[in-house]
Amino acid sequence: MSRDGRVSDRVARIGKSAIHEMTRLSRQVEDVAFLSWAKPTSDTPEFIREAAVRAIREGRVGGYSAPAGLPELRQAIAAKLGRDNGIAADPSEIIVTVGAIEGISAAVMALVDPGDEVILPVPTYSTHIRQVELASGRPVLVPTMEEEGFRLDLEALRRAVTPRTKAILYCSPANPTGTVFPEEDLRELARIALEHDLAVITDEAYEYFVFDGRKHFSIGSLPEMRRHVVSCFTFTKTYAMTGYRIGYLHADAELIPQISKAHIPFAICAPVVSQYAALAAITGPQDCVDGYRAHYEKMRNLMCERLDRLSSSFAYSRPGGSYLMFPRILDPEGARDSFAFCRKLLTEAKVSSTPGVAFGPPGEGHLRLSFCVPEETIHKAFDRLEAYFGT
Ligand SMILES: Cc1ncc(COP(=O)(O)O)c(C=O)c1O
Repeated sequence: MSRDGRVSDRVARIGKSAIHEMTRLSRQVEDVAFLSWAKPTSDTPEFIREAAVRAIREGRVGGYSAPAGLPELRQAIAAKLGRDNGIAADPSEIIVTVGAIEGISAAVMALVDPGDEVILPVPTYSTHIRQVELASGRPVLVPTMEEEGFRLDLEALRRAVTPRTKAILYCSPANPTGTVFPEEDLRELARIALEHDLAVITDEAYEYFVFDGRKHFSIGSLPEMRRHVVSCFTFTKTYAMTGYRIGYLHADAELIPQISKAHIPFAICAPVVSQYAALAAITGPQDCVDGYRAHYEKMRNLMCERLDRLSSSFAYSRPGGSYLMFPRILDPEGARDSFAFCRKLLTEAKVSSTPGVAFGPPGEGHLRLSFCVPEETIHKAFDRLEAYFGT
Protein backbone atom coordinates (compact mmCIF):
# COMPACT_ATOMS: atom_id res chain seq x y z
CA MET A 1 0.00 0.00 0.00
CA SER A 2 1.42 3.40 -0.94
CA ARG A 3 2.03 5.83 1.87
CA ASP A 4 -0.27 8.82 2.47
CA GLY A 5 2.02 11.78 1.70
CA ARG A 6 0.32 13.94 4.33
CA VAL A 7 1.58 11.81 7.19
CA SER A 8 4.95 12.27 8.91
CA ASP A 9 7.56 9.52 8.64
CA ARG A 10 7.51 9.28 12.41
CA VAL A 11 3.86 8.36 12.51
CA ALA A 12 3.75 6.40 9.26
CA ARG A 13 6.45 4.04 10.60
CA ILE A 14 4.31 3.07 13.58
CA GLY A 15 2.45 -0.19 13.00
CA LYS A 16 -1.17 -0.89 13.87
CA SER A 17 -1.66 -1.81 17.52
CA ALA A 18 -2.28 -5.55 17.84
CA ILE A 19 -3.92 -4.83 21.21
CA HIS A 20 -6.53 -2.55 19.69
CA GLU A 21 -6.99 -4.86 16.73
CA MET A 22 -7.72 -7.81 19.04
CA THR A 23 -10.14 -5.65 21.04
CA ARG A 24 -11.94 -4.73 17.81
CA LEU A 25 -12.16 -8.38 16.72
CA SER A 26 -13.27 -9.48 20.20
CA ARG A 27 -16.23 -7.12 20.07
CA GLN A 28 -17.56 -9.13 17.14
CA VAL A 29 -17.64 -12.35 19.18
CA GLU A 30 -20.66 -12.91 21.38
CA ASP A 31 -20.09 -14.04 24.98
CA VAL A 32 -16.32 -13.81 24.64
CA ALA A 33 -14.09 -14.65 27.64
CA PHE A 34 -12.02 -11.50 27.67
CA LEU A 35 -8.42 -11.80 28.90
CA SER A 36 -6.82 -9.24 26.64
CA TRP A 37 -7.04 -5.92 28.46
CA ALA A 38 -4.57 -4.71 31.04
CA LYS A 39 -7.32 -2.68 32.63
CA PRO A 40 -8.81 -3.17 36.09
CA THR A 41 -12.33 -4.48 35.66
CA SER A 42 -13.51 -3.21 39.04
CA ASP A 43 -14.90 0.32 39.13
CA THR A 44 -13.19 3.17 40.97
CA PRO A 45 -13.89 3.12 44.74
CA GLU A 46 -16.92 5.15 45.71
CA PHE A 47 -15.10 7.69 47.92
CA ILE A 48 -12.94 8.67 44.95
CA ARG A 49 -15.93 9.02 42.61
CA GLU A 50 -17.68 11.09 45.27
CA ALA A 51 -14.70 13.44 45.53
CA ALA A 52 -14.85 14.03 41.77
CA VAL A 53 -18.58 14.74 41.90
CA ARG A 54 -18.12 17.09 44.87
CA ALA A 55 -15.38 19.02 43.04
CA ILE A 56 -17.68 19.43 40.03
CA ARG A 57 -20.66 20.49 42.19
CA GLU A 58 -18.54 23.01 44.04
CA GLY A 59 -17.37 24.59 40.79
CA ARG A 60 -13.68 23.81 41.35
CA VAL A 61 -12.89 22.10 38.04
CA GLY A 62 -13.83 24.52 35.28
CA GLY A 63 -10.39 26.08 34.85
CA TYR A 64 -6.83 24.91 34.35
CA SER A 65 -4.66 24.11 37.33
CA ALA A 66 -0.98 25.05 37.40
CA PRO A 67 0.67 22.97 34.63
CA ALA A 68 2.45 20.88 37.26
CA GLY A 69 -0.81 20.21 39.09
CA LEU A 70 -2.68 21.28 42.22
CA PRO A 71 -0.21 22.19 45.01
CA GLU A 72 -2.10 20.08 47.60
CA LEU A 73 -1.96 17.05 45.28
CA ARG A 74 1.77 17.46 44.67
CA GLN A 75 2.26 17.77 48.42
CA ALA A 76 0.39 14.50 48.98
CA ILE A 77 2.33 12.78 46.17
CA ALA A 78 5.64 13.96 47.70
CA ALA A 79 4.62 12.39 51.01
CA LYS A 80 3.67 9.12 49.25
CA LEU A 81 6.97 9.02 47.31
CA GLY A 82 8.89 9.37 50.57
CA ARG A 83 6.79 6.81 52.42
CA ASP A 84 6.28 4.11 49.78
CA ASN A 85 9.10 4.58 47.27
CA GLY A 86 11.96 5.88 49.38
CA ILE A 87 12.21 8.90 47.06
CA ALA A 88 12.89 12.09 49.02
CA ALA A 89 10.76 14.41 46.89
CA ASP A 90 9.90 18.07 47.11
CA PRO A 91 6.50 18.99 45.60
CA SER A 92 8.36 21.24 43.13
CA GLU A 93 10.00 18.10 41.67
CA ILE A 94 6.66 16.59 40.69
CA ILE A 95 4.51 17.04 37.59
CA VAL A 96 0.97 15.67 37.63
CA THR A 97 0.40 14.13 34.20
CA VAL A 98 -2.34 12.69 32.01
CA GLY A 99 -1.74 9.14 33.18
CA ALA A 100 1.74 7.65 33.40
CA ILE A 101 1.72 7.61 29.63
CA GLU A 102 1.82 11.36 29.13
CA GLY A 103 4.53 11.63 31.77
CA ILE A 104 6.69 9.07 29.98
CA SER A 105 6.06 10.80 26.63
CA ALA A 106 7.04 14.17 28.10
CA ALA A 107 10.16 12.65 29.70
CA VAL A 108 11.21 10.98 26.44
CA MET A 109 10.61 14.23 24.53
CA ALA A 110 12.66 16.17 27.06
CA LEU A 111 15.61 13.76 26.98
CA VAL A 112 15.83 12.24 23.51
CA ASP A 113 17.16 13.95 20.38
CA PRO A 114 16.54 12.51 16.89
CA GLY A 115 18.76 9.49 16.39
CA ASP A 116 19.45 9.00 20.11
CA GLU A 117 19.19 5.40 21.25
CA VAL A 118 16.93 4.30 24.07
CA ILE A 119 17.43 0.81 25.48
CA LEU A 120 14.27 -1.11 26.34
CA PRO A 121 14.34 -4.56 27.94
CA VAL A 122 11.79 -6.62 25.97
CA PRO A 123 9.15 -7.95 25.83
CA THR A 124 7.75 -4.65 27.01
CA TYR A 125 4.68 -2.45 26.84
CA SER A 126 4.60 -1.55 23.14
CA THR A 127 3.58 2.06 23.82
CA HIS A 128 7.06 2.68 25.22
CA ILE A 129 8.61 1.67 21.89
CA ARG A 130 6.26 4.06 20.11
CA GLN A 131 7.03 6.89 22.49
CA VAL A 132 10.70 6.62 21.56
CA GLU A 133 9.83 6.48 17.85
CA LEU A 134 7.61 9.55 18.15
CA ALA A 135 10.55 11.46 19.59
CA SER A 136 12.55 10.30 16.51
CA GLY A 137 14.73 8.26 18.83
CA ARG A 138 15.91 4.73 18.05
CA PRO A 139 14.50 1.98 20.29
CA VAL A 140 17.16 -0.63 21.05
CA LEU A 141 15.36 -3.77 22.16
CA VAL A 142 17.34 -5.98 24.55
CA PRO A 143 15.70 -9.35 25.26
CA THR A 144 15.19 -10.35 28.87
CA MET A 145 15.97 -13.91 29.99
CA GLU A 146 12.78 -15.90 29.63
CA GLU A 147 14.34 -18.98 31.22
CA GLU A 148 14.85 -16.92 34.38
CA GLY A 149 11.33 -15.54 34.43
CA PHE A 150 12.09 -12.67 32.01
CA ARG A 151 14.78 -11.28 34.31
CA LEU A 152 16.98 -8.44 33.02
CA ASP A 153 19.98 -9.58 30.99
CA LEU A 154 22.40 -7.07 32.46
CA GLU A 155 25.35 -8.23 30.38
CA ALA A 156 23.35 -7.79 27.17
CA LEU A 157 22.15 -4.44 28.43
CA ARG A 158 25.72 -3.31 29.03
CA ARG A 159 26.77 -4.51 25.58
CA ALA A 160 23.89 -2.57 23.99
CA VAL A 161 25.27 0.79 25.18
CA THR A 162 26.82 2.85 22.37
CA PRO A 163 27.96 6.48 22.15
CA ARG A 164 24.41 7.31 20.95
CA THR A 165 22.65 5.75 23.95
CA LYS A 166 20.72 8.35 25.88
CA ALA A 167 18.43 6.45 28.18
CA ILE A 168 17.08 3.15 29.47
CA LEU A 169 13.31 2.86 29.70
CA TYR A 170 11.81 -0.04 31.63
CA CYS A 171 8.67 -1.01 33.49
CA SER A 172 8.65 -3.08 36.66
CA PRO A 173 6.43 -4.87 37.53
CA ALA A 174 6.49 -5.48 33.83
CA ASN A 175 3.82 -5.51 31.22
CA PRO A 176 3.40 -8.07 29.58
CA THR A 177 5.42 -10.57 31.62
CA GLY A 178 4.50 -9.66 35.21
CA THR A 179 8.19 -9.80 36.14
CA VAL A 180 9.29 -7.78 39.15
CA PHE A 181 12.92 -6.82 38.55
CA PRO A 182 14.78 -7.58 41.80
CA GLU A 183 16.47 -4.75 43.65
CA GLU A 184 19.97 -6.12 43.02
CA ASP A 185 19.37 -6.10 39.25
CA LEU A 186 18.09 -2.53 39.35
CA ARG A 187 21.11 -1.50 41.40
CA GLU A 188 23.32 -2.99 38.67
CA LEU A 189 21.26 -1.21 36.00
CA ALA A 190 21.88 2.01 37.96
CA ARG A 191 25.65 1.32 37.89
CA ILE A 192 25.50 0.91 34.10
CA ALA A 193 23.57 4.17 33.77
CA LEU A 194 26.05 6.03 35.97
CA GLU A 195 29.09 4.58 34.16
CA HIS A 196 27.75 5.79 30.81
CA ASP A 197 25.93 8.92 32.03
CA LEU A 198 22.53 7.64 30.88
CA ALA A 199 19.07 8.69 31.95
CA VAL A 200 16.67 6.08 33.30
CA ILE A 201 12.94 6.47 32.73
CA THR A 202 10.80 4.15 34.81
CA ASP A 203 7.21 3.08 34.42
CA GLU A 204 6.03 1.96 37.86
CA ALA A 205 2.34 1.66 36.97
CA TYR A 206 1.99 -1.67 38.84
CA GLU A 207 4.07 -0.67 41.89
CA TYR A 208 1.49 -1.90 44.43
CA PHE A 209 0.74 -5.20 42.72
CA VAL A 210 3.62 -7.43 43.77
CA PHE A 211 3.06 -10.90 45.19
CA ASP A 212 4.56 -13.59 47.46
CA GLY A 213 5.92 -10.96 49.86
CA ARG A 214 8.03 -9.22 47.20
CA LYS A 215 8.80 -5.52 47.59
CA HIS A 216 8.65 -2.99 44.80
CA PHE A 217 11.94 -1.14 44.36
CA SER A 218 12.15 2.37 42.89
CA ILE A 219 15.51 3.09 41.28
CA GLY A 220 14.79 6.78 41.93
CA SER A 221 15.34 6.07 45.64
CA LEU A 222 19.10 5.68 45.07
CA PRO A 223 20.68 9.03 46.05
CA GLU A 224 23.41 8.69 43.42
CA MET A 225 20.71 8.37 40.71
CA ARG A 226 18.93 11.63 41.55
CA ARG A 227 20.08 13.44 38.44
CA HIS A 228 19.55 10.42 36.23
CA VAL A 229 16.03 9.14 36.88
CA VAL A 230 12.57 10.21 35.80
CA SER A 231 10.17 8.04 37.81
CA CYS A 232 6.66 7.73 36.35
CA PHE A 233 3.61 6.59 38.29
CA THR A 234 -0.14 6.42 37.84
CA PHE A 235 -3.46 6.29 39.65
CA THR A 236 -4.86 4.13 36.82
CA LYS A 237 -3.96 0.74 38.25
CA THR A 238 -3.59 1.49 41.96
CA TYR A 239 -7.11 2.89 42.36
CA ALA A 240 -8.83 1.51 39.22
CA MET A 241 -8.96 5.02 37.77
CA THR A 242 -8.22 4.17 34.11
CA GLY A 243 -10.58 6.71 32.57
CA TYR A 244 -9.60 9.57 34.86
CA ARG A 245 -6.29 9.80 33.00
CA ILE A 246 -4.15 10.84 35.91
CA GLY A 247 -0.57 10.06 36.89
CA TYR A 248 2.62 11.87 37.91
CA LEU A 249 6.35 11.90 37.53
CA HIS A 250 9.30 12.80 39.70
CA ALA A 251 12.65 14.13 38.51
CA ASP A 252 15.34 16.38 39.93
CA ALA A 253 14.57 20.09 40.26
CA GLU A 254 16.70 21.11 37.26
CA LEU A 255 15.06 18.66 34.88
CA ILE A 256 11.48 19.39 35.88
CA PRO A 257 11.20 22.74 34.00
CA GLN A 258 12.56 21.03 30.87
CA ILE A 259 10.07 18.16 31.11
CA SER A 260 7.39 20.74 31.73
CA LYS A 261 8.19 22.30 28.34
CA ALA A 262 7.10 19.01 26.77
CA HIS A 263 4.21 18.42 29.19
CA ILE A 264 2.50 21.75 28.44
CA PRO A 265 2.08 21.32 24.65
CA PHE A 266 0.77 17.76 25.27
CA ALA A 267 -1.67 18.58 28.06
CA ILE A 268 -1.42 22.12 29.58
CA CYS A 269 -2.35 20.35 32.80
CA ALA A 270 -3.91 17.05 33.84
CA PRO A 271 -7.73 17.09 34.03
CA VAL A 272 -8.58 19.09 37.14
CA VAL A 273 -11.56 16.95 38.13
CA SER A 274 -9.26 13.94 38.07
CA GLN A 275 -6.70 15.77 40.19
CA TYR A 276 -9.32 16.21 42.92
CA ALA A 277 -10.26 12.55 42.61
CA ALA A 278 -6.56 11.62 42.83
CA LEU A 279 -6.15 13.78 45.94
CA ALA A 280 -8.99 11.87 47.61
CA ALA A 281 -7.45 8.56 46.49
CA ILE A 282 -3.95 9.21 47.78
CA THR A 283 -5.03 10.75 51.09
CA GLY A 284 -7.98 8.40 51.74
CA PRO A 285 -8.21 4.84 53.12
CA GLN A 286 -5.88 2.50 51.25
CA ASP A 287 -7.73 -0.78 51.92
CA CYS A 288 -9.04 -0.74 48.33
CA VAL A 289 -5.45 -1.12 47.11
CA ASP A 290 -4.86 -4.06 49.48
CA GLY A 291 -8.12 -5.56 48.23
CA TYR A 292 -7.07 -5.31 44.59
CA ARG A 293 -3.66 -6.78 45.37
CA ALA A 294 -5.20 -9.73 47.22
CA HIS A 295 -7.64 -10.34 44.36
CA TYR A 296 -4.93 -10.20 41.69
CA GLU A 297 -2.68 -12.55 43.65
CA LYS A 298 -5.54 -15.02 44.02
CA MET A 299 -6.33 -14.73 40.31
CA ARG A 300 -2.62 -15.20 39.48
CA ASN A 301 -2.64 -18.43 41.46
CA LEU A 302 -5.82 -19.60 39.77
CA MET A 303 -4.56 -18.80 36.28
CA CYS A 304 -1.30 -20.65 36.96
CA GLU A 305 -3.24 -23.69 38.25
CA ARG A 306 -5.41 -23.68 35.16
CA LEU A 307 -2.36 -23.29 32.90
CA ASP A 308 -0.72 -26.28 34.61
CA ARG A 309 -3.53 -28.40 33.20
CA LEU A 310 -2.64 -27.14 29.72
CA SER A 311 1.04 -27.99 29.96
CA SER A 312 1.10 -29.60 26.53
CA SER A 313 -0.09 -26.32 24.97
CA PHE A 314 1.66 -23.61 27.03
CA ALA A 315 4.79 -23.12 29.15
CA TYR A 316 4.87 -20.16 31.51
CA SER A 317 6.82 -18.25 34.14
CA ARG A 318 4.87 -17.44 37.27
CA PRO A 319 4.49 -13.64 37.37
CA GLY A 320 5.70 -11.92 40.54
CA GLY A 321 3.54 -8.86 40.01
CA SER A 322 1.20 -6.77 37.82
CA TYR A 323 -1.92 -8.64 36.68
CA LEU A 324 -0.50 -10.05 33.48
CA MET A 325 1.29 -13.16 32.35
CA PHE A 326 3.03 -14.19 29.18
CA PRO A 327 2.86 -17.92 28.41
CA ARG A 328 4.84 -19.40 25.55
CA ILE A 329 2.79 -21.14 22.86
CA LEU A 330 4.03 -24.70 22.34
CA ASP A 331 2.10 -25.35 19.12
CA PRO A 332 4.74 -24.82 16.35
CA GLU A 333 2.37 -22.87 14.11
CA GLY A 334 1.23 -20.62 16.98
CA ALA A 335 4.85 -20.14 18.00
CA ARG A 336 5.56 -18.77 14.52
CA ASP A 337 2.53 -16.46 14.35
CA SER A 338 1.01 -15.41 17.66
CA PHE A 339 -1.44 -13.05 15.99
CA ALA A 340 -2.95 -15.86 13.88
CA PHE A 341 -2.98 -18.09 16.98
CA CYS A 342 -4.86 -15.48 19.06
CA ARG A 343 -7.34 -14.91 16.24
CA LYS A 344 -7.97 -18.64 16.11
CA LEU A 345 -8.49 -18.84 19.88
CA LEU A 346 -10.92 -15.97 19.58
CA THR A 347 -13.06 -17.35 16.78
CA GLU A 348 -12.82 -21.06 17.64
CA ALA A 349 -12.67 -21.04 21.48
CA LYS A 350 -14.20 -17.61 22.15
CA VAL A 351 -11.26 -16.59 24.31
CA SER A 352 -9.69 -13.19 23.75
CA SER A 353 -5.95 -12.83 24.46
CA THR A 354 -3.22 -10.54 23.13
CA PRO A 355 -0.57 -11.75 20.66
CA GLY A 356 2.93 -11.65 22.09
CA VAL A 357 4.36 -10.06 18.94
CA ALA A 358 2.71 -6.80 20.07
CA PHE A 359 5.42 -6.49 22.75
CA GLY A 360 8.51 -6.50 20.56
CA PRO A 361 9.97 -9.29 18.37
CA PRO A 362 11.08 -11.54 21.29
CA GLY A 363 7.40 -11.59 22.31
CA GLU A 364 6.51 -13.61 19.20
CA GLY A 365 5.42 -17.12 20.08
CA HIS A 366 3.67 -15.99 23.27
CA LEU A 367 0.32 -14.64 24.29
CA ARG A 368 -0.52 -12.19 27.03
CA LEU A 369 -3.25 -13.08 29.46
CA SER A 370 -4.74 -10.61 31.97
CA PHE A 371 -5.90 -11.83 35.35
CA CYS A 372 -7.44 -8.52 36.48
CA VAL A 373 -10.82 -10.14 35.89
CA PRO A 374 -13.45 -11.87 38.00
CA GLU A 375 -12.79 -15.50 38.91
CA GLU A 376 -15.68 -16.66 36.69
CA THR A 377 -14.00 -15.16 33.62
CA ILE A 378 -10.83 -17.18 34.24
CA HIS A 379 -12.85 -20.38 34.70
CA LYS A 380 -14.91 -19.66 31.60
CA ALA A 381 -11.83 -18.97 29.49
CA PHE A 382 -9.90 -22.04 30.69
CA ASP A 383 -12.88 -24.40 30.46
CA ARG A 384 -13.08 -23.34 26.84
CA LEU A 385 -9.33 -23.67 26.28
CA GLU A 386 -9.35 -27.18 27.79
CA ALA A 387 -12.21 -28.18 25.52
CA TYR A 388 -10.43 -26.60 22.54
CA PHE A 389 -7.05 -28.24 23.14
CA GLY A 390 -8.74 -31.53 24.09
CA THR A 391 -7.16 -31.99 27.52
C1 LIG B 1 3.13 -0.64 31.96
C2 LIG B 1 2.01 0.32 31.72
N1 LIG B 1 2.27 1.63 31.80
C3 LIG B 1 1.31 2.54 31.61
C4 LIG B 1 0.02 2.17 31.30
C5 LIG B 1 -1.00 3.22 31.12
O1 LIG B 1 -1.03 3.99 32.25
P1 LIG B 1 -1.87 5.32 32.35
O2 LIG B 1 -3.31 4.96 32.25
O3 LIG B 1 -1.48 5.83 33.67
O4 LIG B 1 -1.45 6.23 31.25
C6 LIG B 1 -0.28 0.82 31.17
C7 LIG B 1 -1.66 0.41 30.81
O5 LIG B 1 -1.94 -0.69 30.52
C8 LIG B 1 0.72 -0.13 31.40
O6 LIG B 1 0.48 -1.43 31.33
